[in-house]
Amino acid sequence: MTKRQTKQDLVAGLDVGSGRITCLIGAPDASTGTVRVLGGASVVCRGVKGGVVINILEAAAAATRAVEEAEAAVGATVSQVWLGVRGSHLQSFNNRGAFNIARTDREITAADVDSVVGSAKAIPLSSDREILHVVPQGFSLDRQRGVPHPVGMEASLLEVDVHIVTASSAHLNNIMKTVGQAGFQVVEPVYGLLAAGELLVTPEEKELGSVLIDLGGQSLSIGVYCEGAIKYSKEIPIGSDFITRDLAVGLKTSIATADRIKIEHGIAHPSLLNGDADVDCHGIDGRTPLRIKTSTMMGIILPRVEEIFSVVAEDLQNSSYADVIAPGGAILTGGGSLMRGTIEAAHQILGVPVRHGVPHPDMVHTEEEKWLSPVYSTALGLLLYGAQPRWGAAEGRFLKRQKPLWLRKISAVLQELF
Ligand SMILES: Nc1ncnc2c1ncn2[C@@H]1O[C@H](COP(=O)(O)OP(=O)(O)OP(=O)(O)O)[C@@H](O)[C@H]1O
Ligand SMILES: [Mg+2]
Repeated sequence: MTKRQTKQDLVAGLDVGSGRITCLIGAPDASTGTVRVLGGASVVCRGVKGGVVINILEAAAAATRAVEEAEAAVGATVSQVWLGVRGSHLQSFNNRGAFNIARTDREITAADVDSVVGSAKAIPLSSDREILHVVPQGFSLDRQRGVPHPVGMEASLLEVDVHIVTASSAHLNNIMKTVGQAGFQVVEPVYGLLAAGELLVTPEEKELGSVLIDLGGQSLSIGVYCEGAIKYSKEIPIGSDFITRDLAVGLKTSIATADRIKIEHGIAHPSLLNGDADVDCHGIDGRTPLRIKTSTMMGIILPRVEEIFSVVAEDLQNSSYADVIAPGGAILTGGGSLMRGTIEAAHQILGVPVRHGVPHPDMVHTEEEKWLSPVYSTALGLLLYGAQPRWGAAEGRFLKRQKPLWLRKISAVLQELF
């Protein structure tokens, strides 16, 4: 492992996507919880599929390049990264915990809050899974719901509702190992959707009810917010690369050409078809000239885009959160959301207002506009996440990753004994 000089006042976010690995380095302002992006780099990576590492050597080499190029851009080195994870090996559900305040003063302390959240995460988990996050949604004091910060208040019964995200231990360890092999330490693995949500979903949208949809290359994340907290999250193994593949097959061209013409000329809704321009490219052999009409491309793209948002609509229906999102609507991010007409297609299928997620200018500062693109929202969200003062249950925010399984088992045995 390369020996690196740590610059304590810098924070680095590493988004290991299915097509690219992106590293952003920023300077946090602890007093305001904001971050200034100093620079970054994004490199192509073929070692990850749907959030899971399939080629550790390739992924580690790409991670090294991404961080080193970001370091060169910034003119400083980092040794630790906040690591974004995603993929359908992540699962989530809600749970509730309760804790009796038996003391005479009944004033709730941060330790009581930790205890109640601890009781909420006491759930049976199979040995191959582990808890990634326990996000408090809201506290109740003596059955009175809706208390955001209970510390200092009085009650005899403290309860908490939480959103728990679990991960496959093997997949999580593989991505952590990848970063280790790349020469860096992981401060914490963070569910990319939650990090992007902190960046893109405003407090009002979280309160009223809205859904964040991250359309990546091979994964789609859904996050439903309501009453100020995340209520539901889901990873679905579909993404914009499916459109690329459809185009490659349908037009008999290479994946690289299909991706390029998708990005440059793709349209996901008929209302965006202005005339019917010709697109010149090459066939699968890279030599035979091909002339394709934009409407022909749209004919291939449309069914897949409709399928993607129908899957989202169906999932929201099945999860019974379809009505919850009506007031705030849908916020789109991820590279796949950049295709022209995607907002219109999503609106037609989901039946709610849809917009692109835009990072709040008060939270992140950057001189380079490109880092504000939906392609980098997870990396930017990770930077913001890392820049926040350490969040814990008492602040009603994310909790750090649990102890490793073996340590938890030993702790449980010790608790039983003493
Ligand atoms: N301007 C654009 N128009 C259309 N599609 C785009 C555009 N830019 C990127 N894409 C597509 O977005 C996808 C990549 O999105 P993103 O970078 O969010 O995914 P990823 O992080 O690499 O993968 P994942 O999040 O699924 O692990 C690719 O399919 C790419 O072709
Ligand atoms: Mg991504």
